[in-house]
Amino acid sequence: MKIRKAVIPAAGLGTRFLPVSMSVPKELLPIIDRPLLQYVIAEAAEAGVEEVIIVTSPGKESISGYFQPHSALEQRLAASGETDLLARVAEAGNLAKVSFVLQKEALGLGHAVLMAKDAVGNEPFVVILPDDIIAHSPGAISQMVQVSEELNAGVIAVEAVPWEVVHNYGVVDATQVSDRVHKIKGLVEKPPREQAPSNLTIVGRYILPPQVFEALENTKPGAKGEIQLTDGLLALLRGHELYAYEFAGTRYDGGTPMGLLRASLAFALDREDTSKEAVALLREFQYRIDLSA
Ligand code: UTP
Repeated sequence: MKIRKAVIPAAGLGTRFLPVSMSVPKELLPIIDRPLLQYVIAEAAEAGVEEVIIVTSPGKESISGYFQPHSALEQRLAASGETDLLARVAEAGNLAKVSFVLQKEALGLGHAVLMAKDAVGNEPFVVILPDDIIAHSPGAISQMVQVSEELNAGVIAVEAVPWEVVHNYGVVDATQVSDRVHKIKGLVEKPPREQAPSNLTIVGRYILPPQVFEALENTKPGAKGEIQLTDGLLALLRGHELYAYEFAGTRYDGGTPMGLLRASLAFALDREDTSKEAVALLREFQYRIDLSA
């Protein structure tokens, strides 16, 4: 069945971006000139997703504001013939149909996904975490949709990381079935290194069947009172096949200040209109690197 809908949880507290996240949702923080959210919506649209459901929370109204028409601005830019800028204003709204559901309290990623149950209905869908930014063409979601269609099953994006850092991530227990594809037997959240079943860590892209909602409804909150998506997926595994897919591309952690800086530098170097300035900027700092060496 064609993947038409994507759920983007954006209702978290964003504590790693305090204090700025008190006023600006981290999902709206930019890489160069576009918010994180826009990059992942573009990735979904490229994969054929037509409708995006963003999970927001009270106090994060600026997220829906971003996707509303900006008539006064558009009129002004049109009057002065600024067609390039007009296209930029219209870009986010043209990628996909965007709707919003509310998670009143940050009760975990699983709980956030559950809030989108009615909006998704009875069809497979993608979950995208906007702080995981993946640079590649074709995008990670396009790659995953293809795998999901071939195997007629759910697919979770994974990345092999050095064993020293596995304890920071959700990890899959899986058997490789083909190039980049592993059949999942289990999932563990932040295991101690010596107990980690693999070094394949879960990245924020999931293609899931609608039955995940029932699994999440039956998932008990964990230690912090949060419903974890990983626990829901474990329950889903009892009746459904899930595959881990090692996507092609580079992942950037837009959920931390230094991760966002890294992404910004990489994108600035890659973009035609910014690469020259980015190189000059890095050269400007070279002497400091030399000093500290
Ligand atoms: P994170 O754990 O990275 O985001 O969740 P966070 O909790 O907002 O950030 P920190 O850890 O406090 O810095 C990944 C995605 O899931 C959303 C977040 O908004 C983010 O986009 N999320 C998380 C929810 O929508 N609801 C939740 O209850 C938790």
